[in-house]
Amino acid sequence: MTNKLNRRQFNRVCSSMIAGAFAAATIPSPAAARTAYPSTRLLDSDKSPLKPDALKAGEPYLFFYPYVTTPCFLIDLGAAATASSLADSGGNAYNWRGGVGPNGSIVAYSAICSHKMSHPAREISFINYRHDNISFISHEGKTEERSGLISCCSERSVYDPHQGAKVLSGPAPQPLAAIELQIDEGTGELFATASYGGDMYDKFFDKFGFRAAIEHRIDDPRQLSGESASVHKIAEYSRQTIKC
Ligand code: FES
Repeated sequence: MTNKLNRRQFNRVCSSMIAGAFAAATIPSPAAARTAYPSTRLLDSDKSPLKPDALKAGEPYLFFYPYVTTPCFLIDLGAAATASSLADSGGNAYNWRGGVGPNGSIVAYSAICSHKMSHPAREISFINYRHDNISFISHEGKTEERSGLISCCSERSVYDPHQGAKVLSGPAPQPLAAIELQIDEGTGELFATASYGGDMYDKFFDKFGFRAAIEHRIDDPRQLSGESASVHKIAEYSRQTIKC
């Protein structure tokens, strides 16, 4: 049934079902900024439910959500990431809720660059999380060096995953869309439940949908992720990862 509804129709139907299924997050986002999708359980390489302690701090992982073709970063930053106030390129403000997990250090973002949609693919990835130091030119024109950032080497945009993936450098016009994570209090399992902030999904399908469908061996690139999504180390998913 779900594939016959467009995304916004589906969201309206599902948002009330999803709300309340998990423990409430700490800061509510403005309703307009949050788009609810079906809750997707994250699975490890053995197809078992992924729990926070299975993630290695500083190791970037990849899963596909809210659609089977749209990649997302999953990262344990190794230190708590606190809530941030952000805005998309249209000036719409929203609150990023901060990290989850025992240390508040686990975050997830769409891995589609908000500039020209560079994203991890099987052959190559120009956008990556860097736990080591990188240097970049800030918007104030200063050369800075920092670790724990997401760097897109296509045109050198840099995002800070500790602060809702806000843009620190480069031509990206808005933060990466944030993926809302929830941890089931009973089982400790990790779920992706929504996307918020400015997302690139429709533009991604227009530009890359055909190629993405072939890569994922499906007919419809807009197929929702559904009940579960596998989590991969990016280094094992993309044959080549570009660092800059
Ligand atoms: S596509 Fe990422 S900086 Fe241009």
